[in-house]
Amino acid sequence: MTQLTIRAGSWDELQDDAKLIREQVFILEQQIAVEDEWDEQDAISQHFVIYDHTQPVATARLLQNNSVGRVAVLKSHRGLGMGKMLMLYIIEHAKQQQREWLKLSSQVHAMPFYASLGFKAEGDEYLDCGIPHRDMRLNF
Ligand code: COA
Repeated sequence: MTQLTIRAGSWDELQDDAKLIREQVFILEQQIAVEDEWDEQDAISQHFVIYDHTQPVATARLLQNNSVGRVAVLKSHRGLGMGKMLMLYIIEHAKQQQREWLKLSSQVHAMPFYASLGFKAEGDEYLDCGIPHRDMRLNF
C-alpha cells in the first residue's frame, strides 16, 4: 500500500532525493546527457519531492521565473496520480507566493498530462536535448 508525503525545500535540503529520481528517469531512461541534466538553476530553484513511505518517487522544481521543470515520476509509480498530485501542490505553492501564472517546456508526449491540469500550448514545437518540446502556460 502506498503512503505518500510531499516535501518542498531548497536544493541543499532535497538534492539527494531529487537526484535519485532524475538520474533514473532523465539520465538512464531518457538518455539525457549528464551535463544537460544538472544546471545552475538547481541551486536557486524550489524543489519538490513525493515520498512513498521513505522512498523518493517523484520530483519537480520551480524556477524564479515561474517555470516548472524536471517533472519526473519513477516508472514503477506512474499512472497512479502522483504527477498530478505533485503539479497540484506546486500550483497551490505558486499561488501562495503571489505568482500569477506558471509556464513549462513540455516534452510533446507529456502534453496531455499538463493539459489535464489546465496548461495551454503556446508557440511551435522545438527540439531540446534531441527531444520534441512545446511551451505551455497556466494563468491563475
Ligand atoms: N499521455 C496522456 N495522458 C497522460 C500521460 C501521458 N503520457 N501521463 C499522464 N496522463 C494523464 C493521466 O491519464 C491523468 O489524467 P486524469 O487526471 O484525467 O486521470 C493525468 O495525466 C495525471 O496522471 P498521473 O498518473 O498523475 O501521471 P504520472 O504520475 O504518470 O506522471 C509524468 C506523468 C509525465 C510526469 C510521468 O509519465 C513521467 O515522469 N514521465 C517521464 C519523465 C517526463 O517525460 N517528464 C515530463 C517532462 S516535460
